[in-house]
Amino acid sequence: MARLILPAPQPRRAELFVPGDKSLTHRALLLAAIADGITDITNPNRGADVAATMRALRMLGVWVRKTPDGVRVRGTQSFVSPRGTIDCGNSGTTMRLVAGLAAGLVDATLDGDESLRRRPMERVARPLRAMGARILTGPHGRPPVTLVGRSRLRGRRFRLHLPSAQVKSAILLAGLRARGCTVVTERLPSRDHTERMLALFGASIVRRGRTVRLTPGRLQSPGRLCIPGDTSAALTMACLAAAVPGSSLTLRDVCLNPTRTGALHVLERMGVHLRMLRPRLEAGETRGDLWVRGIAAPLGGTSVEPAVIPSLIDEVPVLCALAAAARGTFVIRGAADLRHKETDRIASTVALLRSFGVDAAPLSDGIRVRGGKPLSPPPSVATRGDHRIGLAAAVLAAVAQAPLRLEDSACIATSFPGFPEAWQAAFGP
Ligand code: S3P
Repeated sequence: MARLILPAPQPRRAELFVPGDKSLTHRALLLAAIADGITDITNPNRGADVAATMRALRMLGVWVRKTPDGVRVRGTQSFVSPRGTIDCGNSGTTMRLVAGLAAGLVDATLDGDESLRRRPMERVARPLRAMGARILTGPHGRPPVTLVGRSRLRGRRFRLHLPSAQVKSAILLAGLRARGCTVVTERLPSRDHTERMLALFGASIVRRGRTVRLTPGRLQSPGRLCIPGDTSAALTMACLAAAVPGSSLTLRDVCLNPTRTGALHVLERMGVHLRMLRPRLEAGETRGDLWVRGIAAPLGGTSVEPAVIPSLIDEVPVLCALAAAARGTFVIRGAADLRHKETDRIASTVALLRSFGVDAAPLSDGIRVRGGKPLSPPPSVATRGDHRIGLAAAVLAAVAQAPLRLEDSACIATSFPGFPEAWQAAFGP
């Protein structure tokens, strides 16, 4: 297992690009796979999860090739039933979105690694069945997910109690080839990349409030699609900079979609100095630069309301890590679904914080951190195979102004390939 060793971070003035956004890259590949024409995706995320989506598409008979600056995909209207099991690796997004894309079209089994095999899949299987797909899940509704044969899907109305962009996206992808419209109403808005990208590919999709209505139809490739920097990777770097007094970090060309940037408002409330620069709309998504400064004055605690959880769901571990530097209490509630991520992230985040001597407690649906006290960094940290825990460990080490020895760090490349280099550029000696 790869070990990552980082020295104590140094304050620096740096400007860098983070890898392409993971959520957007998955969607660009999936929509390009069924659109008329060829799509050149530039600046894709090159992490392991996206590689799993490319592998899945190739097994379904889609022509996908790497190019010097990204990936080229030729869309098809006829998937083939793969010979073997589609290995989704660690990627829940791959498993759930490919299930929506291919349900009712092929016979296929989707499986994954040990962590993915523990994650709930009925949340997508149930609505897809309601649309007329034949789809099986393993014991307790977990992987493998088996798509059984061809069936004509019907558009339907869905009310999503659980805010999940993956469930919404699986339904919309299936809805593209259903008979009749598909309507999804969310209780709380989850990331809307799929809706935005469907519109870019010419789909007839309308949003009104928390309801989105899709009329089935074929997609048309936009030709070229440039992916902005990954929001979550940028926010991780922002938390690191906020923890290192004297640092000044500019993250260039980042996806600043408001359904993803809830953590920015939390950071501001904690007293972090940051600014969004040159925001602009390009290819349906807001992108811009993010500037963050590490200040010597102590940060403050805050409480994160359930309504904003979907907009920062992947940032909970790094926010809690930064909260170790904040005076007062930091509380996150309404985030029970964190128990079903790559690890039980309520348990793994609390265990990580406690290993640094932070006063942290699990709540039934969140986490409480009492920060502002000196940390006692452990000699080494285990990620438990969860990339976001590995990244949160780097933030905790920065708060402690200590070096970090991270065991089994390979998982970080799931979402943030090139993290050690980005860290060096921003905080290296
Ligand atoms: C994702 C949606 C979120 C997020 C995951 C990526 C996506 O999951 O946690 O990392 O790309 O749609 P849920 O939709 O299950 O909340």
